[in-house]
Amino acid sequence: MDTMGALRRTHNCNILGTDNLDQEVTLMGWVLRRRDHGGVIFIDLRDRWGITQVVFNPEINPEVHTKAHQVRSEWVLAVKGRVERRPGNMANPKLVTGKIEVLVDELAILNTSKTPPFPLDEVSEVSENLRLQYRYMDLRRPEIAANLIMRHKAVQAVRNFLSSNDFLEIETPMLTRSTPEGARDYLVPSRVNAGKFYALPQSPQLFKQMLMVSGMDRYFQIVKCFRDEDLRADRQPEFTQIDMEMSFINEENIIEISEGMVKEVFKEARDIDLTPPFKRMTYAESMDRFGTDRPDTRFGFELTELTETLRGCSFKVFNSIIEKGGSVKAINAKGCASFSRKDLDNLTDFATSYGAKGMAWIKIKEDKWQSPITKFFSEDELAAMGKALNAQPGDLILFGADSKAIVNQVLSELRLELARRLDLMDKDTFNFLWITDFPLVEYDTERKRHSSVHHPFTAPQEEQLEMLDVDPAKVNSRAYDLVLNGNELGGGSIRIHTPEVQEKVLKVLGIDAEEAEDKFGFLLNALKFGAPPHGGIAFGVDRLLMVLTGSDSIRDVIAFPKTQKATCPLTDAPASVARKQLTELHLRPDWKEDTGDRKKETDN
Ligand code: AMO
Ligand code: AMP
Repeated sequence: MDTMGALRRTHNCNILGTDNLDQEVTLMGWVLRRRDHGGVIFIDLRDRWGITQVVFNPEINPEVHTKAHQVRSEWVLAVKGRVERRPGNMANPKLVTGKIEVLVDELAILNTSKTPPFPLDEVSEVSENLRLQYRYMDLRRPEIAANLIMRHKAVQAVRNFLSSNDFLEIETPMLTRSTPEGARDYLVPSRVNAGKFYALPQSPQLFKQMLMVSGMDRYFQIVKCFRDEDLRADRQPEFTQIDMEMSFINEENIIEISEGMVKEVFKEARDIDLTPPFKRMTYAESMDRFGTDRPDTRFGFELTELTETLRGCSFKVFNSIIEKGGSVKAINAKGCASFSRKDLDNLTDFATSYGAKGMAWIKIKEDKWQSPITKFFSEDELAAMGKALNAQPGDLILFGADSKAIVNQVLSELRLELARRLDLMDKDTFNFLWITDFPLVEYDTERKRHSSVHHPFTAPQEEQLEMLDVDPAKVNSRAYDLVLNGNELGGGSIRIHTPEVQEKVLKVLGIDAEEAEDKFGFLLNALKFGAPPHGGIAFGVDRLLMVLTGSDSIRDVIAFPKTQKATCPLTDAPASVARKQLTELHLRPDWKEDTGDRKKETDN
């Protein structure tokens, strides 16, 4: 192995061009590819910035050429040589450095490498587990590295934008008490305080509110949050928020700052010019038209309400659901009458996987309506449906009938599935949408009490305060979400800043004074010391980057992500720990060491 010795890097691997002809340069990097062309050896040398072709010619320097023979994929090299124009037909228009090559006169082999566990020079189908196990190799792949580079640019743009708008970046504790954000906490046992636990923050919510009480006025933080919840393609157990809070403001101020920030991020990261203000829609309208509070508005297939149109209809399945207080909605899948029986069976399976009991359909043909259910309807009912759905020949109507919640869930997922099948989700269209006027609380049938739709510190709409005691489910909150192409990018609210309103809302949530005191008495107390009117929002950095980079998974924009089972194949976390560590933490070690098997200690 060689050392760098006197060699000093002069350029990166993505910069040399015809302006540098005849210059003496030194490059350092990894061997992406080595090709032996009848004596002359070509190596594509790669670093974070790109690729440069370096050439070893036996006629120029036989010693260096012989040395280059042993070089293999992913070895680490330093090369010194002269920049030459590639022969006419050898230029590679795909590379920034494609017009030149470096004729090497000095080679230092700085390190060798085992054979990589998977090819790095192409987007080959590698199992994600293997990629994550060798994540440091995976990150050498230019597509994944590019995601991290874009993430840096985006976060940098956020810092610059918020700093120049008078926000202070302030850190809040990671070892804290649990905040009622709704998910399960990750707990950390305390060694010094036997039997006590810290919680890792689900968000800095309570701290940022207390910073407003402190008079910090404008706070932000790019911060890790931890939530022990079921994972999906857009959810990680630890994820990053752009968290912000402002004093003496209303919804419009938060929305305006957020739009400015997102505009800046898109400009810096992708050179895309967004044109705020973004569209807005109330929660109620979004649920009606899309069946979800995070609609993807890049395509149609909106939901049509048919409950009243079909009340008393002759199709028993629908009518009995309507009579029981359920609802019937349908999607007009424009132009999809050509779907085969098999397509429809697949879609039905898809719908049932989201809780549907069936998926009635009608194909609108030129001469007739083709469907197993048309025979159950009268001419008038069919005509009314056709009108409500604007049914034209070539269309396909898909029905959902059940409780309103299930119908909305099933049809909103069907909408997305249709768009996936028909390839309607253009990755370069960015449809931003604010969702406003959320309900303050929803009834939790399992726990038989109301729970917050956002969190317990969200302010009710002022003119509806009176209704809080009478019919809390009818009260809307001052919360807002920013949705981008069907992803919930961020959410926040104007907060309650007086102890009276806070106590009233906690009462509605069935949290009594004792429980409130125990869980977040410190916040309630802080509100008694002159809390200013305040509010804020938090954006999911990982989700933002997922859309910016056009990735299908949140894992592709995180340097060291966890799997769907919340494990890290690289470090093998979570792992068992030594018995001694457990006893130090005052935890009873009744898990058998190393294997993770449960085995009761017999001696305690
Ligand atoms: P909320 O819980 O809506 O609000 O979270 C804000 C944003 O964080 C992102 N996010 C996630 N991203 C990846 N994986 C997860 N498991 C995950 N959970 C949430 C989403 C979401 O919109 N304290 C409040 C904000 C406030 O009121 O100011 C909060 O945390 O993009
Ligand atoms: P059935 O009479 O039960 O065979 O149902 C006739 C058609 O209605 C079938 O295509 C079913 O898939 C559909 N269907 C049954 N229940 C529902 C439901 N709850 N929602 C939507 N379609 C349904």
